[in-house]
Amino acid sequence: MTTAAPEPKLNMGPPAPRLDARLKVTGEARYAADFPVSNPAFAFLVLSPIAKGRIVGFDLNEARGVAGVLDILTHENTAIAVKPTKFFGAGGRASTSIRPLSSPQIWHDGQIIAVVVAETFEAAREAAYKVRARCQAEPASATFDSPGTATEAAADVSKEHKDPQVGDAAGAFASADVKIDAEYSTPTQHHNPIELFATTCVWSDDQLTIYEPSQFVHGLKYEIAEQFGIGPSRVHVKSPYVGGAFGSKGSITPRTALVAIAAKRVNRPVKLVMTRDQGFTVTTYRAETRHRIRLGASREGKISAYIHEGWEVTSRPDAYLVGGTKNSTHLYGFGNVASRVFIVRADRNTPGFMRSPPEVPYLFALESAMDELAVKLNMDPIELRRVNDTMNEPIGGKPYTSRSLMACFDDGAKAFGWAQRSAAPKSMADGDWLIGYGCATTCYPSQMAPAAARVRLQRDGRVRVEIAGHEIGNGAYTVIGQAAAEKLGVPVDKVSVRIGDSDLPPAPVAGGSNSTASTCSAVMMVCDQIRQRLFKALMPQESMVDKAKETVGLGQTPVTEAAKSDRPLDRDKAFDALGVAVVEEYGEWKPDGAPTDSFRAMHEGKVRIVGGPEMKDWIAYAFGAEFVEVRINRWTHEIRVPRLLGAFAAGHIMNPRTARSQLMGGLIWGMSSALHEATELDGRYARYVNDNLADYLVPVNADVPSVEVIMLAEQDDHINPAGVKGLGELGNVGTNAAVCNAIFHATGRRLRKLPVRLEQLEI
Ligand code: MOS
Repeated sequence: MTTAAPEPKLNMGPPAPRLDARLKVTGEARYAADFPVSNPAFAFLVLSPIAKGRIVGFDLNEARGVAGVLDILTHENTAIAVKPTKFFGAGGRASTSIRPLSSPQIWHDGQIIAVVVAETFEAAREAAYKVRARCQAEPASATFDSPGTATEAAADVSKEHKDPQVGDAAGAFASADVKIDAEYSTPTQHHNPIELFATTCVWSDDQLTIYEPSQFVHGLKYEIAEQFGIGPSRVHVKSPYVGGAFGSKGSITPRTALVAIAAKRVNRPVKLVMTRDQGFTVTTYRAETRHRIRLGASREGKISAYIHEGWEVTSRPDAYLVGGTKNSTHLYGFGNVASRVFIVRADRNTPGFMRSPPEVPYLFALESAMDELAVKLNMDPIELRRVNDTMNEPIGGKPYTSRSLMACFDDGAKAFGWAQRSAAPKSMADGDWLIGYGCATTCYPSQMAPAAARVRLQRDGRVRVEIAGHEIGNGAYTVIGQAAAEKLGVPVDKVSVRIGDSDLPPAPVAGGSNSTASTCSAVMMVCDQIRQRLFKALMPQESMVDKAKETVGLGQTPVTEAAKSDRPLDRDKAFDALGVAVVEEYGEWKPDGAPTDSFRAMHEGKVRIVGGPEMKDWIAYAFGAEFVEVRINRWTHEIRVPRLLGAFAAGHIMNPRTARSQLMGGLIWGMSSALHEATELDGRYARYVNDNLADYLVPVNADVPSVEVIMLAEQDDHINPAGVKGLGELGNVGTNAAVCNAIFHATGRRLRKLPVRLEQLEI
């Protein structure tokens, strides 16, 4: 008898369908605004018509005359002031430090200046349009190059921001054989989640319940408790489903407190559903950026110098910045690096996180410059990346926990048919259509944060998992359920998952693609605690053997290696031995290297994300290679993208089905960020113009007929117990550069300013 070699274990979980799929397609999944509350009043916001200046007075008579109006809150009559708390970008949770209704001052167009509350939504809306505000306007600075903006070095305004550098980049650039020196820019973008920004507040005996779509229920609870100066146990946030967020529902906007104040004043539940255009200024957005990049290389393509300067627009009072050089400077074996980031203050609402906040703009610039360098070197762009690939990041020399970038390029190139590309620009065509192939690297830092979980296993195999995670379309219910099912040896349909509620054990903000890694690591650890109890009951002798290896977290059962292994357990026997019908465990997990105050911070709804370039001995990123085919009409310059392909490596893939959806959505969004999306600004008024889904371009099916996602099986033993690197934001990084690189290949025209509009194409 011969023994076949064991099948290589693909590092992927099963492609389980979403646990919440049926609820979603049948309309049973309850989003924040769907929750029925008894006897609600409705709020409608009134927003500032000027971008800078002050409110001189209000005329509310006409508005008050609308039948059904209950209350109109303005800065003149709203005495319940909330406490100023810290802006997210400065280590707090608030989306902005601007506190509407706290003074007559106007910081930006579309700032909340009044809240109308009425018996019906229609009455509130009608009255809101009849509120007359007399304003004294001053000239406002809209964006880069507007008079009156203020430019500051990021390192001067942010403790967290560092400008990575190593060696003598200027000297190396000066003496390099081949040089690129180019400027790039990216536009303003708004998240536009399909679910609008809604908040319902219900007071009952000093207990406040908030229904609001949130990427951070625990943070929202603590933030509102702090703003009102009340105990956190008095605030309860519910957000079981979120209809798209992309960063816009992670920080706490001022609207929540205003709705809570309104509910207190009218002594009834108050419900607010903001209109789409209001979302453009009451929440956050991706700010416009500019870049200057210098790359120096040898004739063989070895890069010796990378100099990156970035400029980002922010609001007047808040120094929001993404500082993407922290990632771009670690991407290749650059040799010498210099970088500097600046913020430019304008009279705008404060920007915020939007999917892959630092990477989308900064890698657009770098990956475009890499392509320009490849062209100048007469070198294949994939080979240029191979020559500069590295297993140690160039700034501090730390090793990557794992890095499969070139494997992604190899698999992606093969599937895409890159070998059929003829290198010369404008050398491929199909009748009237010029054809271009382009590629780019994507990377995203692998990030984690402390999380707690409670898991209960019944003798009949049913499992309940409780953790205040977030279903933002990412498949959180499903992967959390899978983590427990896998560990406890039960089918996933036996697992019920409770998330999206601030009464559950705390989990971090669902941002920075840390959710799956953090929540699944916590859930798996708690499942190990349950396994440990079962093991101990079955094999008291054996479970003592490796007592020395016990790891102990906070108030949790010590777990031995035996429990952590994938040895099967006889559940019936174990429950017999224990003499119980249910085993329940609670535990708190934190990533290696998380600061010592992590658990306390977790319990207080504070953000403590670690990972990426900031681990102690390692650096952790997920990688990918993206390929784009463009077809450009020779006469009309119409740009079509028949094919997008991405090959990605992100450690253990919990669920290839939900992962594929995430990556697919990312690729489409990345293409969109090159060809479609931009929020247009009227410079005269510092006002967004296309603040609706008719004018804000987003892609439809016809814009990208074929999207192919390849996932490489990557084993990462250093990252976390789940082996998960995170991939929510990986898909839409670099895609914009790949599109522009393909356009160059098709036409010989290099486009450095996004979004691409066909009038820019002279061919
Ligand atoms: Mo994301 S922009 O970290 O929600």
